[in-house]
Amino acid sequence: MDRRFEDRVAIVTGAASGIGAAIAARLHAEGAKVAVADLKAEAAQAAAAKLVADAGGEAIGIACDVGAEEQVEATVRAVLDRFGRVDVIVNNAGLMTFKTLAEFTGDDWLKVLRVDLLGAAFFTRQGFLHFGEKGGAIVNIASVHAVETSANAAPYSAAKAALLSLTRTSSIEGRDVAIRANAVLPGAIDTPMLWENPNVKSGAETIDKRDVGTPADIANAVAFLASEDARFITGTTLAVDGGRLARL
Ligand SMILES: NC(=O)c1ccc[n+]([C@@H]2O[C@H](COP(=O)([O-])OP(=O)(O)OC[C@H]3O[C@@H](n4cnc5c(N)ncnc54)[C@H](O)[C@@H]3O)[C@@H](O)[C@H]2O)c1
Repeated sequence: MDRRFEDRVAIVTGAASGIGAAIAARLHAEGAKVAVADLKAEAAQAAAAKLVADAGGEAIGIACDVGAEEQVEATVRAVLDRFGRVDVIVNNAGLMTFKTLAEFTGDDWLKVLRVDLLGAAFFTRQGFLHFGEKGGAIVNIASVHAVETSANAAPYSAAKAALLSLTRTSSIEGRDVAIRANAVLPGAIDTPMLWENPNVKSGAETIDKRDVGTPADIANAVAFLASEDARFITGTTLAVDGGRLARL
């Protein structure tokens, strides 16, 4: 395997499970020192310990609610204290809730927007403040729901669509300071979030087995976008969905 992240430091949010864990493992396998930032403190520490046990290198687990700006600041401070720098931020932590538009209250909306949109905005701010002179790379994990959606998931779809807009602004403001920002649109990926989706459980959203990818499929794309191989790619969105979005 290439080691494109030797001497680089990466923060991956929501990395205690699912797609985030696969992204953390991939960046770590390519030489990155990785911070696993997750709401679940013990799971974050266990995930980081597993990375080191499996492949050596360095990793730390940090308890962080990405929707709380002071916790995001503390996470970046802890990473700088431990590793001295930060080069890559992957905004992966996400939350999806299910109600009709008539049922969603303001609190319901804020609960999702806080994690899926503001969490990424808070970490983006920290990247702009603390990436070094060589700049850095931000990868935002959005969803195919950012561009096509189904009923009963309005805050999630809206947050993911707004995340694409944040990605564009980040690429524009990042241009002069060597910060690249790109977004990945996962399709159906084999994680608990997919199979616990009530629309999927009820059959309202049917998923052809051939349309289901793995967390590693997303990690491959993220590692590319975060690496120097993508040095001329910024402000773009990459669908990693097995072609699902392209079909009627
Ligand atoms: N699984 C899919 O089919 C799919 C499809 C499209 C997009 N996505 C996106 O991929 C990302 C990862 O999803 P997944 O399927 O691995 O989900 P998952 O539920 O398996 O993992 C999400 C992780 O985020 C953490 N998390 C939740 N709220 C948090 C918060 N406030 N602060 C920090 N961490 C928090 C959870 O503890 C968990 O470890 C999400 O942004 C999701 O929207 C997933």
